[in-house]
Amino acid sequence: MRILGIESSCDETGAAVVEDGVKIISNALASSQEIHKASGGIIPEQAAREQVKSIIPVVREAIKRGDGNFDAIAVTYGPGLIGSLLVGVETAKTLSLVWKKPLIPVNHLVAHLYANWLGDERPQFPAIGLVVSGGHTDLVEMKNHSQIKWIGGTRDDAAGEAFDKCARLLGLPYPGGPAISKTAEKYLSSHSGAKGDRISLFPRPMINENNFDFSFSGLKTAVLNETRKEISDKNKLAAEIEEAIVDVLVKKSLDAIKKYHPKSFLLAGGVSANKRLKDKFRQALEKEDVNVAFFAPETKFSTDNAAMIASAAFFHQDTIDPMELAADPQIEIAGENLISTH
Ligand code: KG4
Ligand code: ZN
Repeated sequence: MRILGIESSCDETGAAVVEDGVKIISNALASSQEIHKASGGIIPEQAAREQVKSIIPVVREAIKRGDGNFDAIAVTYGPGLIGSLLVGVETAKTLSLVWKKPLIPVNHLVAHLYANWLGDERPQFPAIGLVVSGGHTDLVEMKNHSQIKWIGGTRDDAAGEAFDKCARLLGLPYPGGPAISKTAEKYLSSHSGAKGDRISLFPRPMINENNFDFSFSGLKTAVLNETRKEISDKNKLAAEIEEAIVDVLVKKSLDAIKKYHPKSFLLAGGVSANKRLKDKFRQALEKEDVNVAFFAPETKFSTDNAAMIASAAFFHQDTIDPMELAADPQIEIAGENLISTH
């Protein structure tokens, strides 16, 4: 079964055809990130206007490269920016009606987990997943495709948001995650502290608390105070920020793995593109000897894309009457059957 996936929740416009949830037939993407770089962050109105410009060419390209052959249409209906979401949702509804193809609504956060089904190896259940994106930080337990339970998440800023806000304080461009990572690398490659043992300037909130919650909002205040000091080494600060975020994500996930004993651990969302995060996860899992298979998407599937939407749709196939579907910018990664929270 081939599904055409459509993604437009933020500043990326994606369309992809995926076979049986795992095989990529085509994958097209347009991004308005360069425009947002100039303003230092996303202006929702501008992101929506760029979505309008890109959606038809991107969908057309995905279909063309997939030989026009697909059985259903899947679309992100939330969470995200309402103006951006509407572009994908209304496009998918129209195409579903005109081409008489079933329509499958997809929760964007759940779809991030499915980027891990696009690699050579497939995850086994039960799994623990950590979704770390620009707007969310969520730990979930996946018993199977339809039972996904939220077990913890951030109480304030998301991990990606922390990267973005701290990058801004350092005068680095949007998106902050890759910018901080690149700057941190300059410090790490020229210091023996590359192992991370000498990097401990910033607090790791809630790291030792007996729950699966996170808090990242204090980090930006600590970073602001440091940047106000006369001597502040930007490269070192970037490494400190990255390490503080990574340490908390790894420790809390490890706690969840020890409690739930999953067969697989799935890292997902834009922040899962972070090399330091993936390296430290692998090191920690090896050291703790917890016997869990570690999954992280290929970088292009960590950040927003439509292949993960088509994959999630295949494993859920919860169709809806196109006239009934509405974008929902606020949906959470919660509930027993997440795809059908509409
Ligand atoms: O999943 P995503 O593409 O969009 C949302 O659903 O939010 O995630 C975007 C987030 C941004 O905050 C960005 O700074 C972060 O992912 N990000 C990274 C990296 N690449 C993207 N954070 C850390 N390291 C990276 N290499
Ligand atoms: Zn995303």
